[in-house]
Amino acid sequence: MYRGTILWLNQSRSRSAAGHPGNKERTHGKDNTRKMAARLLATTARRLAMPAAAALTATTAAACDSQKEDRLQALERRIAALEPRKTNPTDHWASDLLAADVLFSERDIEQMVGSLATQISRDYAGRDVVIVGLMDGVFMFLADLSRKIDTQHQLDFISASSYGLGTVSSGNVRIKKDADTALAGKHVLLVDEICDSGRTLASLKLLISQRNAASVKTCVLLDKVSRRQADIRPDYVGAVCPDEFVVGYGMDWGGKLRSLPFVGVVRRELYES
Ligand code: IMP
Ligand code: MG
Repeated sequence: MYRGTILWLNQSRSRSAAGHPGNKERTHGKDNTRKMAARLLATTARRLAMPAAAALTATTAAACDSQKEDRLQALERRIAALEPRKTNPTDHWASDLLAADVLFSERDIEQMVGSLATQISRDYAGRDVVIVGLMDGVFMFLADLSRKIDTQHQLDFISASSYGLGTVSSGNVRIKKDADTALAGKHVLLVDEICDSGRTLASLKLLISQRNAASVKTCVLLDKVSRRQADIRPDYVGAVCPDEFVVGYGMDWGGKLRSLPFVGVVRRELYES
């Protein structure tokens, strides 16, 4: 259903961009329709945990013309009637720290992890692979991912933090705990729970390549694409993450909220004051 919605909104966007004849008497309704389209997509994004829908909001709203108002209203009613895929945490022990909407529910995460495991199992079947998790935040994700990968793989862990210097180099990363496995000649899959600036993954990828690994690829559950500074695109991505500080499923905020089984957003007013 939501894919259909996005498709439809995209189609109306291209039609109106191509000069679809508008009803002149109803141009006053244009602003209303835009607002409605924005609200509609925001509702879809919230209900269906699809950040991509939120990203489409602005462009689609700007492209909708007033002729679409009736259809938008009908669509909004249909979307409002959908079963939300997210669990609202208002009565949750952490609700004082979290924004009202869960970003990725347990069900969303299960689907993302399942899909990543399928791709990884297929790509690494029959290979001598070492999956290296980046501590600490990766513990929950990697526990689930590893269990779902149905081919032989070795597991190891690195604890590192990047210095965030202008250029990425293998020297920009401080290793607090190195991998125990000799990685030369091995196919290495680096796994992190979230990619932000990309400096940690980029520096570690370089470092492990320099140790003569047979190949080095990267996998993340969430990718904050809009914040990227280093030249890296993870090979396996569960979902694109909006530019918010997210917590849960292993990710912490100053040591808090790691244990949440879903991914939530920290209330902005708590760190933006
Ligand atoms: P990067 O080197 O800037 O890509 O940083 C990646 C690391 O920063 C991740 O492994 C996380 O530990 C941490 N991080 C980045 N964004 C978030 C967030 O929104 N919540 C919690 N941890 C984050
Ligand atoms: Mg981390």
